[in-house]
Amino acid sequence: MNSTRRLDHMRVMVTGGAGYIGAHTSRLLADRGDYVLVVDDLVTGSADRIPGIPVVSFNLANGSSARLESLMREHRIDAVIHFAAQKQVGESVEKPAWYYEQNVGSVAQLLMAMQQAEVHKLVFSSSAAVYGEASGTITEDAVARPINPYGATKLAAEQLISASALSWPLRAASLRYFNVGGAGRPELGDTQTLNLIPICFEQIAAHKSPLIFGNDYDTVDGTCVRDYVHVSDVADAHLAVLDALPDEPGNEVLNIGTGVGTSVREMVDAILAVSGSDLIAEVRERRRGDPAAVVGAVDRMKELTGWSATMSVADIVESAWESRQYFAALAQRS
Ligand code: UFG
Repeated sequence: MNSTRRLDHMRVMVTGGAGYIGAHTSRLLADRGDYVLVVDDLVTGSADRIPGIPVVSFNLANGSSARLESLMREHRIDAVIHFAAQKQVGESVEKPAWYYEQNVGSVAQLLMAMQQAEVHKLVFSSSAAVYGEASGTITEDAVARPINPYGATKLAAEQLISASALSWPLRAASLRYFNVGGAGRPELGDTQTLNLIPICFEQIAAHKSPLIFGNDYDTVDGTCVRDYVHVSDVADAHLAVLDALPDEPGNEVLNIGTGVGTSVREMVDAILAVSGSDLIAEVRERRRGDPAAVVGAVDRMKELTGWSATMSVADIVESAWESRQYFAALAQRS
């Protein structure tokens, strides 16, 4: 990759730009002077997260390529960052066809529009979920064998992007996120309760003990180990990748993590401490399909773009807590 930063401002379409990671990224782009056009169906996203940034509201999955193409032409778009997706693993098991329609269909529509409008740069939100039950420190060359439809749709979308780059001059990168958490500003925090940190906050708010799913894994303290990466670092990674996309067509697959593992027990202790709670975590049965340890090898991203994560697990937990307090106060006022 070419590691020199770009000289001119870009014009970037950000799909899902009103969502959790999308809004952090859209604001960073706008802050550095790039033109940003968000396309978001505003179902889980909110335009309040991105004041001053234009939003066009529709779902990309079905028959949207002509509309996307005309938006790309009208707004003279140079590059697309594609976040818009469904991301609930359990729901993907219940509704696999709908997950493929949403998560792969949207990429198909987008790629057709990009090809027609001659937009040749794409950064795609993929997930470490493509690795399935792989355990340990995982490089991008590890076999991708997803264990649920959510992960499978991310892998299929990556493959569609790679196939496109063989047929027209598409310069793309697929970013496989590890466990994203925290908030760059309180109002940008994750409002969905899908992952360990928000689930624990929810338990604590209900005066219930946080639950630890399994303490008999072959890890430092018996609980699962994950690679937690701050959402502001993740947002910054998109800018770094956009600026360093190779000149040649292709799809660069890049892990986005810290390379450092933290156990569930360590996370839960940090969460209890920041919330000032005197509850004690309870250990439960293992959750099905949880690999013991999932940590990203992050050398490829560093070599290709110079980016590496700068924020700690403490930064993640503290900023997530501040955001939770912000939304709790907001809910009380309304
Ligand atoms: N966990 C608990 N108690 C809880 C909730 C979670 O012990 O109340 C544990 C889980 O068993 C797991 C760890 O905390 O060991 C992290 O669980 P999350 O659900 O927060 O995250 P996962 O690592 O399972 O999955 C996350 C995202 C997926 C993504 C994956 C990529 O949720 O979308 O990372 O590695 F695909």
